[in-house]
Amino acid sequence: MKKQLAVFSIAVLAAYACSQKTATTVSTSEPTIKTESATVNHERYLAGKTIYDAKCGRCHKLYEPQTGNMTQWNKWIDRMAPKAKLTEEETALVRDYVSVNAKPM
Ligand code: HEC
Repeated sequence: MKKQLAVFSIAVLAAYACSQKTATTVSTSEPTIKTESATVNHERYLAGKTIYDAKCGRCHKLYEPQTGNMTQWNKWIDRMAPKAKLTEEETALVRDYVSVNAKPM
């Protein structure tokens, strides 16, 4: 699992570096990660993490997804996405990323 994640990570980072379009393409054939409420595919998880790591630790420490549940995260993301100047798609990816490891509701 760790190794698989690393391989995907490299692939997505490479794709992200070359073209933002590639990183946000959703492929339904990718392995998926189950969350409380939905299923987030690996590509979206990693694309979301890339955005999160790059944009969400500029003004303060990078909060761990475990910091809160999705009710809290939805509020924080709504408040922070404009600060981080995220597009709608980037915001959705960040939401997917934190949802995988957010506190259970
Ligand atoms: C332009 C600066 C800036 C950026 C970029 C930014 N934040 Fe923040 N963030 C703040 C400030 C200022 C606060 C404290 C005031 C507040 O809560 O509104 C804060 C607070 C927070 C908190 C704590 C909220 C609470 O009530 O405890 C979280 C979680 C958070 N940010 C997440 C994020 C995420 C996720 C992103 C990326 C989408 C992000 N931030 C990007 C400035 C920023």
